[in-house]
Amino acid sequence: MYSSIAKHFDKTKSIVVLTGAGISAESGIPTFRDGAGGLWKDYNPAELASPEGYRKNPQLVWDWYNWRRTLVLAAEPNAAHAALAEWETIFPRFQLITQNVDGLHLRAGSRKIVQMHGSIHHLKCTSCAHSCDWITQDQVPLCPACGKYLRPDIVWFGEQLDSTNLKAIDKAISHCDIFLAIGTSGTVYPAAGFLDKAKRKGARTIVVNPDPGSGAQADHFIQVPATEAMTNLSKHIKLPET
Ligand code: OAD
Repeated sequence: MYSSIAKHFDKTKSIVVLTGAGISAESGIPTFRDGAGGLWKDYNPAELASPEGYRKNPQLVWDWYNWRRTLVLAAEPNAAHAALAEWETIFPRFQLITQNVDGLHLRAGSRKIVQMHGSIHHLKCTSCAHSCDWITQDQVPLCPACGKYLRPDIVWFGEQLDSTNLKAIDKAISHCDIFLAIGTSGTVYPAAGFLDKAKRKGARTIVVNPDPGSGAQADHFIQVPATEAMTNLSKHIKLPET
């Protein structure tokens, strides 16, 4: 299977890779919606990841993100993150789009990346334009500029994605030859629509996900965990001459 998929990379000019929580699962960070261990299991996502939820109970939201950040800081990038960091140095036109806020792609060395849902390592003010690195403390931090609450610099439910990011994503997807989605349940828009869009524009589409129900729309479905798929794909891809 890998060699037949890898053949398509020989002639490719442009690759777009979309990642979701599943790529970090093997680094020990629970996904959002996977069975019993899913991150949302005891909570309604709207209570933890929405402006309304934060207004209602900022301490609950702050505690939850602090807990998640502890998991993220204890985790290491895995072989799938590493493979993608290598791919961007090999393929001349490469764009990584991640829904993950964990920063593991950056730690693995990826630079051609759009973190479309923001970062768990940054804060921004709920009121003014102030933003800063995360502040590790138990109390919800206050903005040094205006005194209002700071909040995670993450795109929450009901919020718009950054328009510059959206334009960059749209352009990359419209012009790619290969679109590879790794470890995403395809339930949260706009990312859930990216594969179909790439397909409509003529790209070959590949899905990596161990869940049997997740690959139906793709041209190729690699139904194994991300590290196994990426290690094997990397082995079989004939790297372009540099
Ligand atoms: P989900 O938790 O919805 O989906 C994770 C996917 O990863 C599932 O389809 C799993 O089958 C798959 N998976 C699990 N282990 C895997 C592995 N080892 N290798 C590959 N795949 C694996 O996560 P996302 O699709 O990322 O938004 O969720 C999208 C967004 O929903 C998140 O970015 C988050 C959430 O609301 C924000 O926080 C803003």
